[in-house]
Amino acid sequence: MPSAIHLNPSASSWHSSPQNPSATSQIQAFHSLLPSYAPTPLRPLPSIAKDLGLKAVYLKSEASRLGLPSFKILGASWAVYRAILDFLAIDLLPDQPLPSLDYIKTLIQDKELGELRVITATAGNWGRAVAKMAGYLGLKAVVFVSDHMHPTTQQLIRDEGLGAEVRVVQGGYDHAAQRAKEYGEERGKERERLLVMDMGWVGYETVPGWVVDGYSTMLTEFDAQMLGQPDGGRKSATHAFVPCGCGSIASAVAQFFKDVKRENETKVVVVEPDSAACLLASLEKGEETTVETGDKSIMCGMNCGTLSSSAWEVLRKGADAAVAVTDTEAHQAVMDLESEGVEAGPCGASTLAALRRVCSDTSAREKLGLGEDAVVVLFCTEGKREYEAPV
Ligand SMILES: Cc1ncc(COP(=O)(O)O)c(C=O)c1O
Repeated sequence: MPSAIHLNPSASSWHSSPQNPSATSQIQAFHSLLPSYAPTPLRPLPSIAKDLGLKAVYLKSEASRLGLPSFKILGASWAVYRAILDFLAIDLLPDQPLPSLDYIKTLIQDKELGELRVITATAGNWGRAVAKMAGYLGLKAVVFVSDHMHPTTQQLIRDEGLGAEVRVVQGGYDHAAQRAKEYGEERGKERERLLVMDMGWVGYETVPGWVVDGYSTMLTEFDAQMLGQPDGGRKSATHAFVPCGCGSIASAVAQFFKDVKRENETKVVVVEPDSAACLLASLEKGEETTVETGDKSIMCGMNCGTLSSSAWEVLRKGADAAVAVTDTEAHQAVMDLESEGVEAGPCGASTLAALRRVCSDTSAREKLGLGEDAVVVLFCTEGKREYEAPV
């Protein structure tokens, strides 16, 4: 078991390739047309900031996003949309209006493509989000899941969109992802199967890239909300804490904050369950490393043993720290947030657990500059959900 905090000092001077503002506004415009779009709240947590000796702590809550209890629909909706446009050979032009969902749905019907299936694998929230978005386009999803997944979560996926087909695979998330990949890529079936995964590998990076692009809406909202904070006293956060499973959301966060225009004012701290700390292991080893995951973590969505290939390329350069937290710490953080009136699941609360862990390690805290001027944002990626509390 590696140590729980890995610092990556070179990240403080790394810049991502500059983001294209018209592309991010196009994505935000797309999301704003989806049913029940609204920016998610950014909440100040003054008593936690005081307790930890920090200037301010904010929590961006993804407890309710486009009708689902996690951020994943932002990436899933944009990636499914882009993948269908690609499939239908429709170009997306920067200054043209976006083809509407109704238009695409009609096109799918006219071309008799109703049997097309959107294929994916999930640790939970992603599969629901893909099924929902496929449903908006009149399509069904086939979702591969691990047999470790709780039956209630499987049912939530089945109930989404037009009713997803859930295929249960023995082993952890990595096995389910492998099966989805084989099934989606099977030769001769290209016209019936469209693989839309957030997990990428060499040779399959375009779709996961769209997923990461889709998450930009959460960050654009954050920027606007931060400007409106009376007590923040600064343009942005000094530290951003983000959970990591296959690494897509963390790489979106790193790319955003490390954009050359932002002058490296924000350190990015990536949080993993100690039972699936593949980024931490990879950073320690200096190369992408798969770890054996346990069959259970209350941070289910983060229980991935391998990083998405493109996420690793960003995070190895852009993550200032990787922090592994235990189920007990995540559960404690869920309860801490509850007492602040914030409803979060363990993945969402893991960022608070990691903040507490770093703050309790004098050396790491100092090296990361988490002092009395620090303004921290915690990305809280999911709402309250049932789980078995660790004893
Ligand atoms: C609630 C929640 N938080 C965080 C993550 C991790 O996201 P990613 O796989 O993009 O690293 C997931 C993934 O399923 C999730 O469901």
